[in-house]
Amino acid sequence: MDGIDKDKMPKTAWREASDDVPSNPLHNPTIGEIIARRSRRDALKGMLGVTAMSAMVSPAALFAGKAQAQATGSFDFPELEAKVTADHRVAEGYDAKVLIRWGDPIVPGAPAFDPMNQSAEAQEQQFGYNNDFIGFLPLPQGSDNADHGLLTVNHEYTNEELMFPNYTEDTAETVDIEMAAHGITVVEVMKDGEGGQWTYKPESDFNRRISARSTEIDVSGPAAGHDRLKTSVDATGTKVIGTINNCAGGTTPWGTSLHAEENFHGYFGGELPEGHREAANYERYGIPGEWYSWHLFQPRFNLAEEPNEANRFGWMVEVDPYDPESTPVKRTALGRFKHEGADIAIGDNGSVTVYMGDDQRFDYLYRFVASGTFNPDNRAANMNLLDEGTLSVARFNEDGTVDWLPLVFGEGPLTSANGFESQADVLIETRHAADLLGATPMDRPEDVEHNPQTGRVYVMLTNNSRREPGDENVANPRAENEHGHIIELATGGDYTKAKDEWSILVLCGDPQNPDHKAVWGPATSDNGWFGDPDNCAIDNRGRLWIATDGNSDADTGRADGLWALETEGELRASGRHFYAVPAGAELCGPYFTPDDNSLFVAVQHPADDGDEWSEFGRDSTFEDPSTRWPDFDDNMPPRPSVVSIVKRDGGPIG
Ligand code: FEO
Ligand code: CA
Ligand code: CA
Repeated sequence: MDGIDKDKMPKTAWREASDDVPSNPLHNPTIGEIIARRSRRDALKGMLGVTAMSAMVSPAALFAGKAQAQATGSFDFPELEAKVTADHRVAEGYDAKVLIRWGDPIVPGAPAFDPMNQSAEAQEQQFGYNNDFIGFLPLPQGSDNADHGLLTVNHEYTNEELMFPNYTEDTAETVDIEMAAHGITVVEVMKDGEGGQWTYKPESDFNRRISARSTEIDVSGPAAGHDRLKTSVDATGTKVIGTINNCAGGTTPWGTSLHAEENFHGYFGGELPEGHREAANYERYGIPGEWYSWHLFQPRFNLAEEPNEANRFGWMVEVDPYDPESTPVKRTALGRFKHEGADIAIGDNGSVTVYMGDDQRFDYLYRFVASGTFNPDNRAANMNLLDEGTLSVARFNEDGTVDWLPLVFGEGPLTSANGFESQADVLIETRHAADLLGATPMDRPEDVEHNPQTGRVYVMLTNNSRREPGDENVANPRAENEHGHIIELATGGDYTKAKDEWSILVLCGDPQNPDHKAVWGPATSDNGWFGDPDNCAIDNRGRLWIATDGNSDADTGRADGLWALETEGELRASGRHFYAVPAGAELCGPYFTPDDNSLFVAVQHPADDGDEWSEFGRDSTFEDPSTRWPDFDDNMPPRPSVVSIVKRDGGPIG
């Protein structure tokens, strides 16, 4: 938090700024990067990939002939205008309807939302704050029903200044509400026939809230029960209260959902006892971040009081939404870092691979390959697949290959000589282990999604303003990378190989602004480019859709939202704008139903960063927000909400 005055910044800006303090000490050039730099010209020449070169054009040539090119793309919706407004907007011919909002009651007996008199007890029975990941799991379980199912939604963090009337600082009561507003919601949803709209079912037996405040969560896998996970209230090291900062996630083919714990460091405060063994471990993760005041009211978030508690967060949580009584599980085999999300790829032989980003400047891209295989005929046999397998980290090579380096105790440098006594130690200190293996420091890996039809895997690198000139590497070729880029891995459909190929699909930013050094496909219009790719989805026709976070900077004059991006043919890397969030929001969670006829998106932190929107130009507060989306009621604050999108006359989206 060096140099960041958090009292003067809205929570999201402060969150983004503190990401500006990289905690990877190795982001200075590694030997591999120095070698790579020697032949940078060759690397850059090759970076767009052989398949892409013919489709890529320089910014100067970009707009010539785009209308003709657009006629042959794989998307046929009329493009949305890129701009900032108080309301959300979707392409002509589509309906975007608010499905569920922060505070909506979801469990039996839940009180109606009363923002002037909120309580933790009420909040734990209502939809949480700042919806991020959305999963759709069909009902009945095992079907491909596209009109009825369960949404599993993450509630990543809270914006106190927009949540609480007359907010100045936290109290025990606001902290309790914040903890209740974090976590996960499971909610039953249904569509009213062809071309109909989605509604949620209040008081469904499936509906539940999993919170940071009270939900017991099991710990499984190699680190479960380790001494470093034991606390004064849990001598077993296997039971944790709550999950925090759940960002993106994924759904598994066995009908569970995965929920990433991202910026967990921000919830801890205080100081470790002098000489404590976790000092170096915590420093590598930026603990204590003190983004919140929880440690002042909840001793377990104070390092002085409960030094091991922070080792119990930063994991991937698996939830069985079909069993409302089930206990969520932290799967330690998938590593401990600032997990952005999880993408599960099933190989031809039933192999199970989970792709995961560690979202911080100069941190890494990971992959977990389960030891077992997916059994489509026996759900129970799949339920613990994520407890045993091999976690690997990516090293991108200038010859266009990427090596997956296994994080296995006893192999290479992962021995007692470097402080590792077991696989549990390797997983608890995943970042340290990956540092020692020589992983490639990336420009903030966010969401990853694979295309099962092509075996290609898309990695969102959202931005990295701290990569200095001379500090570029082959996979992160722009210094001061304000707008991010997207990498494509070619696996050939085998998601378990030690080596894959890679290329850069797009360098984001404004192609007409030479300072951005952006590179796009030829059909990218004035509205079709974007920056700061974050979440993404592959629809059932194998097409890529990208949600942005940060594209709404004052200097771009555009809102965050959803863009379709061509990945095949002559128009490869051409973007098209489909949906825009209201002022101050970012877009999360795009998720298509199995028939592609419905799309769910999560509008996170509407009205945040009021000063970034020139029409408003001042800080947003509960009393004076830049937008009151979605209710536009003077008695209601802005409310993060999930939106369902359908085509007005029915049929597949896009
Ligand atoms: Fe929570 Fe990396 O976004
Ligand atoms: Ca994200
Ligand atoms: Ca982000």
